[in-house]
Amino acid sequence: MQLKENYSLKKLNSFGIDITARYFASFSTWEELQELKKCIPNNTLENPLILGGGSNILFTRNFDGAVLKNEILGIRLVSETKDHYILEAGAGENWHGFVMHCIDNNYAGLENLSLIPGTVGASPIQNIGAYGVEIKDCFHSLDAYHFQDKTVIQFEAKDCGFGYRDSIFKTAYKNQLAILRVRFQLSKQPNLTTSYGIIEQELANKHISSPSIKDISNAVISIRTSKLPDPKIIGNAGSFFKNPLIPLSKFEQLKNQYPSIPGYHSDKAEFVKIAAGWLIDQCGWKGYRKADAGCHALQALVLVNYGKATGTEIWNLSNDIIASIKDKFGIVLEREVNIL
Ligand code: FAD
Ligand code: EPU
Repeated sequence: MQLKENYSLKKLNSFGIDITARYFASFSTWEELQELKKCIPNNTLENPLILGGGSNILFTRNFDGAVLKNEILGIRLVSETKDHYILEAGAGENWHGFVMHCIDNNYAGLENLSLIPGTVGASPIQNIGAYGVEIKDCFHSLDAYHFQDKTVIQFEAKDCGFGYRDSIFKTAYKNQLAILRVRFQLSKQPNLTTSYGIIEQELANKHISSPSIKDISNAVISIRTSKLPDPKIIGNAGSFFKNPLIPLSKFEQLKNQYPSIPGYHSDKAEFVKIAAGWLIDQCGWKGYRKADAGCHALQALVLVNYGKATGTEIWNLSNDIIASIKDKFGIVLEREVNIL
């Protein structure tokens, strides 16, 4: 819990951006978090940045405040019913490690979310999702420390405003909370989601006709490693933009012009979700590189740092991409990554 000054965050963000935090400390209990208040000068704790694995952040400048890294660990079975387990994990637990723990114990529901980088505590923030599942589908509740009120609040699923890559923690409660623990409701009888086309294809390739949750996890891991760059090798934060929702009428008009445009069902009636990666690819950005900032050669939705790119260079590239998509398709992309 030692407080450090002008601390480099280069190794603590998956883009590998070389910036510093004015103050930095990690905490592994709620009590330690409270203690930190006394050490950090000038009330910098009023608006601290709670850092998990740093895999969904682009730093564009040095952070002139306190960065507090959440290292609260522990996984425990809270309760059990005929059909479900309620499992609680400390916010600092590694997400993929937690998913593997569930699979090893036959707790079903999170297998499609294998290999997503980051921590358990960040998973509700953007309601992480992949391959047809979002954490809202298994979320039970969480405890979070409110900096201003100095209380611990419990949020149930209905309180969280979960949507596609969205929650109340990104809006009304932005920067006001430290998520301490998250609970998930996991199933005893798996209800597998294999509808995401490529999973079925992957299972068929392996001649698996009645998959276990471990098989689904392995299929997802294999698909992900085939196209997403490993941040340990090339800096990135996964999808840089959200897949946009467009009115059905606009989609039909684009489909006439571009018959191969991928469109997906969305939760919003009369709206279609389209693949931002396809739009970016169509505008010729895939594989683009300027100095060390680029657009990944296998997945155009992923912006990358080949080594020494600054956050501003990645930001400028994202602006250029937004402008060209708007120009060609009349669609404005929204960033998924948190910009600081
Ligand atoms: P950080 O980047 O550390 O933080 C993200 C935000 O959450 C920040 O605003 C931070 O302040 C806040 N925060 C973090 N922890 C806490 C806490 N305990 N309390 C309060 N606020 C907190 N995302 C998906 O949804 N689906 C994917 O398939 C996916 N694939 C990815 C693939 C790659 C290669 C990479 C690099 C990223 C991918 N992501 C994906 C994005 C990322 O992994 C997730 O958003 C993840 O949940 C971020 O976790 P983190 O701990 O790294 O959060
Ligand atoms: N596509 C292209 N060119 C590209 C990239 C994609 O044409 O360069 C096309 C693909 O061929 C496919 C479609 O776009 O038809 C969708 O691509 P993909 O299946 O790779 O998924 P995505 O929409 O790009 C989303 C999530 C990912 C998640 C995957 C799997 C968002 C913003 N991204 O990507 O999440 O892992 O689906 O469910 O919703 C993340 O959030 O960081 C992330 C990686």
